[in-house]
Amino acid sequence: MLQLDHVTKRFGRVVIAEDLSFSVGAGDTVGIVGPNGVGKTSLFGLISGDLAPNSGQVSFAGKAVTKLDSAARCRLGIGRTYQVPRPFIDMTVFENVLVAAQQGGGLRRKASYAAAAEALERTGIAGEANLPASRLGLLQRKRLEIARAVATRPTLLLLDEVAGGLTDPEVAQLIEIIRAINAEGTAVIWIEHVVRALTALVDRLTCLYGGAFIGDGEPAAVLANPKVREVYLGSDIETAAVESLQPSPGGATPSTPRGETDGESS
Ligand SMILES: Nc1ncnc2c1ncn2[C@@H]1O[C@H](COP(=O)(O)OP(=O)(O)OP(=O)(O)O)[C@@H](O)[C@H]1O
Ligand SMILES: [Mg+2]
Repeated sequence: MLQLDHVTKRFGRVVIAEDLSFSVGAGDTVGIVGPNGVGKTSLFGLISGDLAPNSGQVSFAGKAVTKLDSAARCRLGIGRTYQVPRPFIDMTVFENVLVAAQQGGGLRRKASYAAAAEALERTGIAGEANLPASRLGLLQRKRLEIARAVATRPTLLLLDEVAGGLTDPEVAQLIEIIRAINAEGTAVIWIEHVVRALTALVDRLTCLYGGAFIGDGEPAAVLANPKVREVYLGSDIETAAVESLQPSPGGATPSTPRGETDGESS
């Protein structure tokens, strides 16, 4: 469904991807981890069309999309959330999702209203449909961000740190929402520092570092990979990764990684 072939992307000396090849099948669930600033969000930009690679090809559903912009890729079925959500705060929740269905998904009138209503139901914020987006709390804003992506009717959903800053029960609710979306056939690539959330959902995990993926496969094996552990050494992520492999009996530890402030980390 998604294929990156020999993709290179650099910002000056910062290497996001170096001759990177990667593919995701229909309905797959893939987690991406990696330390702050390695280029995870930028990688999503390369997939969604917000960023152009220096070289290499991106294909989606059998088509070369490297030269297509994000609007065109969205209409083909690539939906994404943003690490720093920017809903239209003066619009209602419903209007925000309707704009996504129409402008992102290219849906018209009745179809767009149906897609918007369905996206709100699926993400559990139908009850807030008529509230201005500015009135939403953190969990609801995360749900709205997912709803805006879902309203475009994606076959590939890119989630960028949607679990940050939430409590464990809130994260569990989000996972159920994402699992239900995936169960209907939408492939999911999820960037997340909250490794316990990722491992609860994904079948496959990889770690971005230095423009390349370290490890790619069964989540427990990737987290146990010495290179992955070295990359994370001394960080909170490493602790989270270890916790995910050895669930604590108490369970109710907060999911907030250091420096995570409402998804506003760089
Ligand atoms: N448009 C841009 N122009 C120049 N540099 C950029 C641009 N976008 C990102 N960068 C740089 O590229 C690097 C990767 O940023 P990116 O946001 O993709 O990392 P990330 O892995 O998502 O980090 P985090 O875990 O903090 O979200 C950073 O050094 C960032 O400053
Ligand atoms: Mg990021």
